[in-house]
Amino acid sequence: MSVETAAPRITIAEAGKHVGETVSIPGWLYNLRRSGKICFPQLRDGTGVIQCVAVKSNLPEETFEALKNLTQESSLIVTGKLREESRAPGGYELDVEQAHIVQRVPEDDPYPITPKEHGTDFLMDHRHLWIRSRRQHAILRVRAEVIRAIRDYFDSNGFVLVDTPIFTPAACEGTTTLFEVDYFEDQKVYLTQSGQLYNEATAMAFGKTYCFGPTFRAEKSKTRRHLTEFWMVEPEMTYADLDDVKKVAEEMIVFCVRRVLDNRRAELKELDRDVSKLEAIQAPFHRMSYDDAVVKLQAKGSEIQWGGDFGNADETLLTEDLDRPVMVDRFPTGIKAFYFETDPNRPEVALGVDVIAPEGYGEIIGGGQRAHSLDVLLKRLEEHNLPKEAFDWYLDLRKYGAVPHGGFGMGVERFTAWMCGTEHIRETIAFPRMLYRTRP
Ligand code: 4AD
Ligand code: MG
Repeated sequence: MSVETAAPRITIAEAGKHVGETVSIPGWLYNLRRSGKICFPQLRDGTGVIQCVAVKSNLPEETFEALKNLTQESSLIVTGKLREESRAPGGYELDVEQAHIVQRVPEDDPYPITPKEHGTDFLMDHRHLWIRSRRQHAILRVRAEVIRAIRDYFDSNGFVLVDTPIFTPAACEGTTTLFEVDYFEDQKVYLTQSGQLYNEATAMAFGKTYCFGPTFRAEKSKTRRHLTEFWMVEPEMTYADLDDVKKVAEEMIVFCVRRVLDNRRAELKELDRDVSKLEAIQAPFHRMSYDDAVVKLQAKGSEIQWGGDFGNADETLLTEDLDRPVMVDRFPTGIKAFYFETDPNRPEVALGVDVIAPEGYGEIIGGGQRAHSLDVLLKRLEEHNLPKEAFDWYLDLRKYGAVPHGGFGMGVERFTAWMCGTEHIRETIAFPRMLYRTRP
């Protein structure tokens, strides 16, 4: 929309380039301080916050009165001269010459989120407004940077983006976490848990591919790491083995961490993130077998037995003395999905890898090498009680030019939570979907 403004229209982020000029900034009232004949409306516009200075004697009466009594989150366009001001939050101040109120928030129905403390439920109910707050704003900017970095990494390393469907006829990650959808004519489909099976087809066509989109898990887990809808990036590579998968996972993580550090310093500062922890994320990551991980965990007091899956507490224990992620490989075949290749020397373990982030952020990547023999897969489908008919197209990939291949999936929200140092993953997506939350 083109908003007519009295002077050249700029954003707050551009203020530094316009010092000494008269400009118009469209935005919303973030905060307001007043003292008699002067008031200080803080304006936010999505790119930053700037303090404005309105002096009664310099302004028409009605303009000053309108500003002085303006309510939080009212929309307005402020025109005035920009000045450097080292004590001001963004480093600049604007001396108001004109102000046009676009919509005034009514006094008797004020903006619900005030500077006072609100409970999490209240904030989550007002998520559509909460995302205007500085902290939430910073987290979502980091998320956007993470997504851009992921795309840049794969786009510039020979991977072709091929998106995979959301409606799927079969389970990829086990039948217990499927969301069923009524399709036409009494057909049932499921919301995708992972694009992987389709990635295997696209990788056979393109060599290296990735998909990037929302995925769904009907997991009744109420933890700080679980959403029912989350975004996952999933690369897949042909003529590749477990070591290749680990190498790409490690390289991509280092690349993304670096980009967040390079481009989102201000946001990390807003979030009070200890950046030294992120600076330490360098290759090579720690590498450990599942066997050794179990021994390490038992020594630290975990109840885990060989054959069991790690709980959140185990993942935290595993990395508590580490400064960078650990890649744990060769999990028991019994706890892994049907599609994993097994170790040729030890069929009881799968050629899978989990990347576990430090500081208690847990598993951020799961992946591995895929079984590429038709016979093995047929046997697995049976063992996992999966209907062979639903996988006929997938089995074709093992008939027509099967090769060793593999890939992984990384959850964007878990990665973003780690970058931001947020307690709960729900803050890393604009509108989280969880066990007990599907609104707003
Ligand atoms: O380990 P997962 O289940 O692996 C797969 O889905 C593979 N098919 C991926 C592949 O090889 N192409 O999930 C991968 C990642 C996890 O490590 C985690 O980061 C994220 O997806 N994830 C979740 N994030 C938020 N909420 C949940 N409920 C998640 N479940 C998995
Ligand atoms: Mg996993």
